[in-house]
Amino acid sequence: MDLRSSRWYSGNDRNSYIHRAWMRRGLPREAFEGDRPHIAIANTASDLTPCNSHLNEVAQSVMHGVWEAGGVPLNLPVVSLGETNVRPTAMLWRNLAAMATEEMLRANPIDGVVLLGGCDKTIPSLLMAAASVDLPAVVVPGGPMLTGHFRGTPLGCGTDVWRLSEEVRAGTLSREAFLESESSMIRSRGHCNTMGTASTMACMAEALGMTLPGTAGTPAPDSRLLERSHESGRLAVDLVKQGRRPSQVMTRGSFLNAIVTLAAVGGSTNAVVHLLAIAGRLGVDLTLDDFDRTGSGVPLLVDLQPAGRHLMDDLFRAGGLAAVLKEVEDLLDPSALTVTGRPLADHLAGAEIWDESVIRRRSDPILPDAGIAVLRGNLAPRGAVIKPAAASPELLRHRGRAVVFDSVEDVYARLDSPDLDVDETSVLVLRGCGPKGYPGMPEVGNLPLPQKLLAKGVRDMVRISDARMSGTAYGTVVLHTAPEAAAGGPLAKVRTGDPIVLDVAARRLDVDIPDAELHARPPVVTGHAEPARGWERLYADHVTQADRGADLDFLIGSSGDAVGRESH
Ligand code: FES
Ligand code: MG
Repeated sequence: MDLRSSRWYSGNDRNSYIHRAWMRRGLPREAFEGDRPHIAIANTASDLTPCNSHLNEVAQSVMHGVWEAGGVPLNLPVVSLGETNVRPTAMLWRNLAAMATEEMLRANPIDGVVLLGGCDKTIPSLLMAAASVDLPAVVVPGGPMLTGHFRGTPLGCGTDVWRLSEEVRAGTLSREAFLESESSMIRSRGHCNTMGTASTMACMAEALGMTLPGTAGTPAPDSRLLERSHESGRLAVDLVKQGRRPSQVMTRGSFLNAIVTLAAVGGSTNAVVHLLAIAGRLGVDLTLDDFDRTGSGVPLLVDLQPAGRHLMDDLFRAGGLAAVLKEVEDLLDPSALTVTGRPLADHLAGAEIWDESVIRRRSDPILPDAGIAVLRGNLAPRGAVIKPAAASPELLRHRGRAVVFDSVEDVYARLDSPDLDVDETSVLVLRGCGPKGYPGMPEVGNLPLPQKLLAKGVRDMVRISDARMSGTAYGTVVLHTAPEAAAGGPLAKVRTGDPIVLDVAARRLDVDIPDAELHARPPVVTGHAEPARGWERLYADHVTQADRGADLDFLIGSSGDAVGRESH
C-alpha cells in the first residue's frame, strides 16, 4: 500500500525518526512500516456539547474496529458546537469548525478518518471538512436520546419547549408545571429526539452514502450503536485500502437521494444550507431549485415531531431509515454509491416497516408532497424556503399586512405590547438576521406570536425572515430569504403596513407595491454592529448568502489531501 502516512514515517533519516519516535509511546515499530492505515477519529465529544458528550465511548468502539482490521486508530478532538450553548449562534462557528477540522486532517499523518458527530452543526462541519480534504471517510452519527415523559406525555426535545412555552404565554399552562418538565426533557445521552437538525443530518449523512447503512437513528444508549461503531472502524481501514474517497461517494446522485430522504422524513430546513455547503466543497452542481424539483411529489412518510407525533426512538423501533427509503426506492438514484462500495438501494433489501403508525406506507402518506418549497418574488429574488409539512395548510396562500421588526431585540421589546397593531391576518417580518447581518443566521425565524393573539387562541401566523429556524420548530414560516436585508435584499425596504402575498403553490413571495416605489425606498440598515476583528470579521467579509450554503467564499471547493512541506 502506498500510504499517505508513509510520507512522515517511512525511511531511516532524522525526520522520519522524529515522526516515529514521538508517536511510539508503546506502539510497536511495525505500526509505522507502511502497511497499516492510520485512521483519525475526528471526535466532537465535549462537555459543552452535551448531545455529543458520549462520543468518547463511541470512539473506543471505533478504535477496536480499526485495530481489528489492522489499522492504527488516533483520537483527534476537533472543534465542537453545542447548539443550546454557543452564542451568538452555533451557525456562526460551523464554517470555523469545518475549516479547523479540514486543516488538521490535512496537516497530520493520517490515511483516513472516522467522523463522530451528533448535535446540529457537528455532522455538517465534519462532512464539509471531509469533502475538502477528500481522505477516505465514514460518519458515525452519535444517535438520538431516548424519549422522556412528562405527566404521561412523551416530550420532544425542542418542539415541546416551543409548544409548552407558548402555552405558558397563552395562560393555559402554569410556569411551575413548565419548569417541572425541565428535568424530564433530556432523558439520556444523545442528541434531540425529534426530527430536528441533528436527526435530519444523521439521515442526510446516511442518504449521501457516508455512514455504514443502517446506522443513522440508532439511539445513543443502544448497544447496537457501539456495534455499528466497531464495524465503522473496520470499514475505515478498508476504505483506505480501496482508495474510496468522499468525492466518489457524495456525487450529485447522492445529493438528490438526500433531498428525497429529507422530504420523506420531514427533515429540517437547515439541511438545505448544510447540503448546499457540502456540495460546494465537492464541486457538485447543486442549487436551491434542486430541492424543490427533486423534493416535489415525495410523500411525507415519517410521523415524527415537529411535523407529526412520534420521536426518533419510535422511528428506530419501527424499522428505521432503511424502511422509509425502501418505500421511495424508485425515487432514489440506483447508482449512487455508499462507503460500502455498493449503491444505497442495495442496502434496502431486508428493510421492513414494523409499525405503520410511525412509518407510513407509500400508499397512505401523511402528506403526498412534502418537499421543501423554494419561493421567489420581489421579496426574495434569490429564493426563500418554507417547509409545508410543518405549516398550516390554510396559510399557505395568504395576503396580509406586514408588521416589521428590525432585530430580535426589537421583537422582544414590542411583540407583546397591547398597543402593537397586529391581528391574526398580519404577516410578521423579521430582518437583520441573515448570515452577514446577525452575523451567523440564527434560528430565530419562527418568531413567537403576539401574546394578545395567543390569548385569543391563535397558534400560527405567516412569518418571514432572513434567519433560519430550529429544525424542531414548526409553523408557516418563510426562511433563508436571499439576499438578506444586510446584504441589500428587498427585505430591507419593507414597511409596516405593506401588503405581503405568500402563495406556496405558485412558489411566490411578494410585497404588493409597485416595483418603482420599492426600488426608490431607502433600505433600512439593520443588523449588528460591524465586527471589529477575529472570526466574526472574517465571517462577515466572506460569508455567502443562504442560497449558496452560507459557507465562506474562500472555503468553497477542495484542497485535497496534499502533504505539506516538512516541519523541521
Ligand atoms: Fe444538540 Fe438538539 S441541541 S441536537
Ligand atoms: Mg438548531
